[in-house]
Amino acid sequence: MPNSVVDADVIFKELKTNSISEFFRKNSQMLGYSGKVRSLTTVVHEYVTNSLDACEEANILPEIIVEVKQIAESKYSVKVTDNGPGIPTKIMGRVLATVLSGTKFHRYMQQRGQQGIGGSGCTLFSLITTGKAIHVRSGTGRGAYECDLSIDIKSNRPLITNMVEIDKAFKGLEIYGEFGEVKYESSDHGIYEYLRRTALSNPHATIRLIDPEGKSFNFIRSVTEMPTRAKASKPHPLGIGTNDLLEFAHASESRKISSFLVETFSRLSQNKVEELKGIVGELDFDKDPRKLTWDEAEKLVNSFKQVKWIAPDLDSLSTIGKTQIEATIKNILNPQFMSITERKPKVFRGGIPFVVEAGIAYGGSAGKTTEVGSQGVLIRFANKVPLLFDGSVCAITSAVNDIQWKRYGIKEFDQEPISVMVNVSSVYVPYSGVGKQAISQEMEIIEEIKLAVMDCARGLQRYMSGQKNKSIQTSKYNTIMKYVSQLSENLSEITDLKKADIEKELKALIDSRYKKLLEVEAAEEAKAQEEAEGEEEEDVGSAEEE
Ligand SMILES: Nc1ncnc2c1ncn2[C@@H]1O[C@H](COP(=O)(O)OP(=O)(O)O)[C@@H](O)[C@H]1O
Ligand SMILES: [Mg+2]
Repeated sequence: MPNSVVDADVIFKELKTNSISEFFRKNSQMLGYSGKVRSLTTVVHEYVTNSLDACEEANILPEIIVEVKQIAESKYSVKVTDNGPGIPTKIMGRVLATVLSGTKFHRYMQQRGQQGIGGSGCTLFSLITTGKAIHVRSGTGRGAYECDLSIDIKSNRPLITNMVEIDKAFKGLEIYGEFGEVKYESSDHGIYEYLRRTALSNPHATIRLIDPEGKSFNFIRSVTEMPTRAKASKPHPLGIGTNDLLEFAHASESRKISSFLVETFSRLSQNKVEELKGIVGELDFDKDPRKLTWDEAEKLVNSFKQVKWIAPDLDSLSTIGKTQIEATIKNILNPQFMSITERKPKVFRGGIPFVVEAGIAYGGSAGKTTEVGSQGVLIRFANKVPLLFDGSVCAITSAVNDIQWKRYGIKEFDQEPISVMVNVSSVYVPYSGVGKQAISQEMEIIEEIKLAVMDCARGLQRYMSGQKNKSIQTSKYNTIMKYVSQLSENLSEITDLKKADIEKELKALIDSRYKKLLEVEAAEEAKAQEEAEGEEEEDVGSAEEE
């Protein structure tokens, strides 16, 4: 007998709408919780970026302490303390125990956090791996309290318990959580490296790590000015897609589509609206923007592409800064040589501004020391946040792999004490995956990274060839000097002169010749370098243009 057909109502009877936290409970890998080492790094990353963001917003030089302890096999506690503004009691539950809730939404501005899933994601991860709540102490200067915090997964509502007032001298935020399915490792993917790199890209922050063995590592700030803050700015019409436009339209308080467009986007004037009207065709620009449909939004986005726009304004970008990078590299890597470049802002996809900074450090603590010797290291950042995972698919890796290092005096990148650091800043960094650990392969971005790194590499080349020449000449000089004594003795035998006198004169002669030789070589090298730079400028000329 054939099986009877099952009705759709029966199939879907069981279907319940998942709460958003239910969804992330089942898909925690989407928040970076996959793999034991990565999961623990993710927790620290979320708390530390929140501390940095909060301090920046409150204009406070950050002091952050991260303490990791092992509780059991695959189980650790993490405590992060900062000296930031703290969180007022009223909003505590909403910001740290409600998934997708933060104070940084809907700002078109370069920031580390933005989605409101960092802090609450940690709360959720602790709950599902240990069943425990997070413990928070917060002080705003006006008052201080502590409490336990968890999430009611079914409703995505915060559960706050044991709330008590504490000494109001406490200022800042301290979060303590216990996490399962995690592991502390001192590898390139671990917390130590994460914090060292965070210190590199945040020279104004002092960061201390106390590891599970109780060892303490201090990364002390190398500058005392706050970073320049990015301004919130309006998005450029060329930088957005249909989905973004719909979201903006539906959240808009404008009465008409025309005023919504002018108010929402940069470079979009009433004149441009008139121009758009001619291109879009069927669309009532007097209509309520909250009623904009997908098809209409799509038409608008397509028409944006047919209008000539002024390039986006670049105030929304914030960089680490050349002198800051110099200070921080010196502080943390203490190299024999370094070279730093900050490029001018550019745009990708026609309307999204971004800017690339790069630095190369050679010698000292640059690179990585392994059993077989030194190793080149690439340090990637997006908006000053270190990217530790998924390196192989990242635009930064592609760009740096494309560089012919031999040309710059580096025989094998993998075998030299060299660190290359690259920071890509943008309001909208195009990450290649939900884990936000790699930048997708946008041509314009790759090209800019290459130009930045090549610029630093030219400085390195000058240094390397100087070093090489110096060492060749030094060994020639030393060889000749070895024979001076013998030669002087022989000469003294066949002449009436004293050995010591001959030796003195010979040495003086060789010294002066040697000095001259070095001068001539340095001049030639500088000339060759200038010529090489001329050629290279020609190579990249087209990419320089906007
Ligand atoms: N250390 C902190 N100090 C002050 N406020 C904080 C801190 N950590 C988190 N917050 C607040 O909690 C909010 C939610 O954080 P989070 O879930 O990480 O989302 P996001 O960082 O994307 O905004 C932040 O927007 C901020 O308002
Ligand atoms: Mg965050």
